[in-house]
Amino acid sequence: MKETNPRGPFLWGVATSAFQLEGSPHADWTSWDEILSARPTVTNHYELYREDLALLKNLGVNAYRFSLEWSRIQPREGVWDEGAVAHYQEIIDILRRDNIEPMVTLHHFTHPLWFIKKYPWHEDASVEHFLRYVEKILSALRGVRYWITFNEPYVLVLAGYFEGCTPPALKNVPLGVKALKNILTAHAAAYDIIHAGCPDAQVSVAHNMAALAPWKRWNPLDKLLARVAKYFYNHSLLDAFLTGSLRIKFPFKEEMVIPVPIKGKLDFFGVNYYTRIHMRFNPFKNMGVEMRHLDIDGRGLTDMGWEIHPRGLEKVLRYASGLNVPLIITENGIATRDSQKKIAFMKEHLDAVERCREQGMDIRGYFYWSLIDNYEWLQGLDARFGLYRVDFDTLRRIPTNAAAYYSYLIKNRKF
Ligand code: FCB
Repeated sequence: MKETNPRGPFLWGVATSAFQLEGSPHADWTSWDEILSARPTVTNHYELYREDLALLKNLGVNAYRFSLEWSRIQPREGVWDEGAVAHYQEIIDILRRDNIEPMVTLHHFTHPLWFIKKYPWHEDASVEHFLRYVEKILSALRGVRYWITFNEPYVLVLAGYFEGCTPPALKNVPLGVKALKNILTAHAAAYDIIHAGCPDAQVSVAHNMAALAPWKRWNPLDKLLARVAKYFYNHSLLDAFLTGSLRIKFPFKEEMVIPVPIKGKLDFFGVNYYTRIHMRFNPFKNMGVEMRHLDIDGRGLTDMGWEIHPRGLEKVLRYASGLNVPLIITENGIATRDSQKKIAFMKEHLDAVERCREQGMDIRGYFYWSLIDNYEWLQGLDARFGLYRVDFDTLRRIPTNAAAYYSYLIKNRKF
């Protein structure tokens, strides 16, 4: 792509994560979800990566966000698999050869089994073990400028410690808060390690942000809950990057103020945005919270049951612009088998991005989730996010009309 401004070209990309494309025999998730025992290699991207990277060229993207599968790189404590490291280096080399900017995610939900068993995130030793992996990567990999340390740290903690529906499967809020503190501490140290090894690095987390609204507008408890949830889920991390303090306030509980060493440890901010969530106070539910997606604007729900709400992207970008660093939409996408719906989703969300840019927000990139259909956490293989459909019997990748549409947008939107 031609460079049109001193900041470099707008990053037009797609995003994936290693485990969702290729599985791993050494990851905590492998035994977590039954579907993976029937199909442990998922799309078999670990073998078919060359073919998949060629799809990026066909699309015409100039950036690709993907993750390293830590459990392949360090299958046992203290054991490094140099072959796995070389594999990811080859991916980076292919991208560089094709003029596609790699954005590497170090941690995208999965862990080596030994790590989650011995050093889950609420244990302080977790930090040093993660950092050994980061050091290994920085000493081994060449050619990466954009780094995401953690994908969706809040989702990781909410699912693993509040809901208890993913590893380490604890329903324990205080341990979850401890885990979050350790994860953010690990981010800060990883930020420094990356910059020491790669002075022009651009480092962030990818923060899942959502539009949050009361289920019933007239209900004061729903309103209170939506307000509290909005602060916790969207804003508390932003404030922690600005101030070095994480403020956590749950309804009817005292506020916790937790020092976290992440002030300023951010070169850009990665926003993952998918949907709006309506909140209802329900004393019979976990932490009094019930959530639902309502099809308020008549755009329909996705195959994940999520509301399609492009205006929400504008809102969360506005919140995130308070950080005063460039913003990159590190994930945005829709699960549907209907290409027209996928096209409309992309168009409306990119219209929202355009409006934000017109208002002066510094948005430097957009990554559609996802390149090909893949394994969706706790859902299996039916959530069809891909620009390329995967036939799971033959593993063939088949372009959807949305792929052609994305190529068209890349060529024609003057961002
Ligand atoms: C995000 C995750 C990503 C994918 C999408 C649908 O929250 O980061 O791995 O599962 O949702």
